[in-house]
Amino acid sequence: MKLTLEEKASLTSGGGTWHTTAVRDVVPALTLSDGPHGIRRQRDPSEPSGSADSSGSSGDALGLRDSVPATCFPPAVALGSSWDPGLAGRVGAALAREAGALGVDVVLGPGVNIKRSPLCGRNFEYFSEDPHLTGVMGAAVVTGIQSLGVGACVKHFAVNNQETDRMRVSADVDEQTLREIYLPAFEHIVREAGPYAVMCAYNRVNGVYASQYRWLLTELLRGEWGFDGLVMSDWGAVNDRVAALEAGLDLEMPPTGTDEEIVAAVRAGRLPESVLDVAAGRVIRLAERVRARPGRLAGRVRDRAGRLDAQAEQAEQAEHAEQGEQVGDRAGHGGWDVEAHHELAREAARASAVLLKNDGVLPLAPGLRVAVLGEQARTPRYQGHGSSHVVPTRLDSALDSLRAAIGVTFAPGYRLDGAPDPELEREAVETAAAADVAVLFLGLPDAAESEGFDRTTLDLPAVQVALLRRVADACPRVVVVLSNGGVVSVAGWQEHASAVLEGWLLGQAGGAALADLLLGTHSPSGRLTETIPLRLADVPCHLHFPGSDGHVLYGEGRYVGYRHHDTLGTEVAYPFGHGLTYSSFAYSGLEVRETGTNEWLVQFTVTNTGERAAQEVAQLYVAFEEERPTRPRHTLRGFAKVGLEPGASERVRLPLTGRDLAQWSVERGGWRIDPGPFVVEVGASSRDIRLRAEVTTPGDGYVAELTGMSTLGEWLAHPVGGRVLKERLRGAPGVSGADPALLRLALGIPLIKFRTFGLGLTAQAVNDLVAAVRRAHS
Ligand code: BGC
Repeated sequence: MKLTLEEKASLTSGGGTWHTTAVRDVVPALTLSDGPHGIRRQRDPSEPSGSADSSGSSGDALGLRDSVPATCFPPAVALGSSWDPGLAGRVGAALAREAGALGVDVVLGPGVNIKRSPLCGRNFEYFSEDPHLTGVMGAAVVTGIQSLGVGACVKHFAVNNQETDRMRVSADVDEQTLREIYLPAFEHIVREAGPYAVMCAYNRVNGVYASQYRWLLTELLRGEWGFDGLVMSDWGAVNDRVAALEAGLDLEMPPTGTDEEIVAAVRAGRLPESVLDVAAGRVIRLAERVRARPGRLAGRVRDRAGRLDAQAEQAEQAEHAEQGEQVGDRAGHGGWDVEAHHELAREAARASAVLLKNDGVLPLAPGLRVAVLGEQARTPRYQGHGSSHVVPTRLDSALDSLRAAIGVTFAPGYRLDGAPDPELEREAVETAAAADVAVLFLGLPDAAESEGFDRTTLDLPAVQVALLRRVADACPRVVVVLSNGGVVSVAGWQEHASAVLEGWLLGQAGGAALADLLLGTHSPSGRLTETIPLRLADVPCHLHFPGSDGHVLYGEGRYVGYRHHDTLGTEVAYPFGHGLTYSSFAYSGLEVRETGTNEWLVQFTVTNTGERAAQEVAQLYVAFEEERPTRPRHTLRGFAKVGLEPGASERVRLPLTGRDLAQWSVERGGWRIDPGPFVVEVGASSRDIRLRAEVTTPGDGYVAELTGMSTLGEWLAHPVGGRVLKERLRGAPGVSGADPALLRLALGIPLIKFRTFGLGLTAQAVNDLVAAVRRAHS
């Protein structure tokens, strides 16, 4: 098919806010929708109303909340805490089913940026402070979405770890930190799950806009990692479209109306047409990929403007029905089983809440008089604000669910806007006084967490903490249930609670899920994917976040989250990986078997030693125990969520590869494994290691090239260099009999300097030695 220059230019920019541009009847417009934890299907301004049902929408200035109802699954902060990639995959597939039903071709998610600071306003959309966990969970979501032929768009590439000044700020980060912390999740997802699309970030990375960064979008993403999909911009992230196209950005979203400038740039020789060919080709390829999916009636689902076609939708549903899929439409939204998806949202929410502390009050024993307190029990906070905001198909509150199950008393206790209300407080304290247990719902106010700005404190609203104190005085046992998308501080109040259940933002079925956990029909099984620090000042990036004058320095380097706390031994409120269940688990029988060069199989047994069925999240860390740390003390390299009946055991098997031991070497420009010992740690959190085994790696054989500026020590440690140098120095004055301190001093001196330091080495001799080493290696 021959496209004109104008057509090619038009393909590389959107045809509207939520769709790509159609070209004649050969390339259809594709619909793109947020993402990540539910489908936010909006009408394009160019779409006439009625093409997508907007019932249930609530208007807002930016129009973010005006969308068709869809299941609001637990946001990534919660889903990540499930540590269950299988579950994440099922949620991904459900997202794709809804996307298909709503005429959406590409879901704008998952978001896989690393939680560098707990203050990042968008942390609720991200999985973890750890790249391995983020990569595994993100890949599962992508695989789930794409299993039904809908495209996933991994975002925001890269180093978008704050909202402050996000459209301009330069994330200034060193190469090793970039490679080890901020890129591996993207790399893993690209390599393992093959996303159809990647969304570039708004921010600059080391001074260059991500949308214009050729190394990032082309050399690394495609060249090194083999990405074969499309790169689109974040909404409005393109500043210079010619530069962006040249860097490898294929699709600008939404359109800026600059197609003519692109055509002119090609005509004037400022942009090679071949660049446009490649980008337009990738848009066409994406269209081919998503059009090929079963149930997507090619070319019929939408017209040129990307509008839903009612006839095509009916045909699509009929096809689903023929395939035996249940397309019951109990809530009137069409195309998927609304009840089944709500149930999946409840299962995911149940798997995601983290029981931080429990003196035995949970699960609530039958027959107790239970007071439910806190407005958030009645008015749940279940998602954050911004582009991920979903209009849910229904909404469960914990209060209704608890009421239906056991009959409880209730008092709201505080106002959602944080204003003091002594009357509400008094009523709540009285209600607590008449109960055996008070279940108090606390959390961040709705307006505190959003895309577009960061938080400034980890604290809960003061009125809520004051209420807790008074409730604890009135009632002997208080269970605190938290609702927050970013970590909140528990220091200073948690001693008043017998149990704390961290409920994050759990999506539309979170209320019912919390009731399941409080009542013990299910055991909690979520684990922290981020450290809860004691104080904000303990957060490693505290002094750098969120930067100033257009720059944010990643001065803490690789020491993010537990990598910092566990290396320094800082006291934390709750460590990474922590979470209690209603049972207990024992670990035994650690075996590390070598299966190849720098490949091992780690095996151990997990046993449920308690009296209830529950799930354990067994975690595998690789540790380097150094007196003077030169790298994070340990890093997560594997995990397994194991469900066990009381008394039952399971043998867990986790692979370990060379990459799990490797560090990024700036000198080499690649990964490097140093020979030597390391420790395989297996445990229930980063601070609860139960089994350890010391293993030795032979390294990867890499030896840095020797030059005249390599030190005497480096020369002597080098297998060839050491030999040739010793031969050369045999009998040289001052070599034998040197005292130890002098020798140590000498070891740090570059070899070439010895032309004046008396080993009898001339510049020529050093050159000869360098050449001799090179010869031996070639
Ligand atoms: C967000 C993206 C989102 C896009 C479209 C941007 O503001 O950063 O995550 O996908 O809007 O809504």
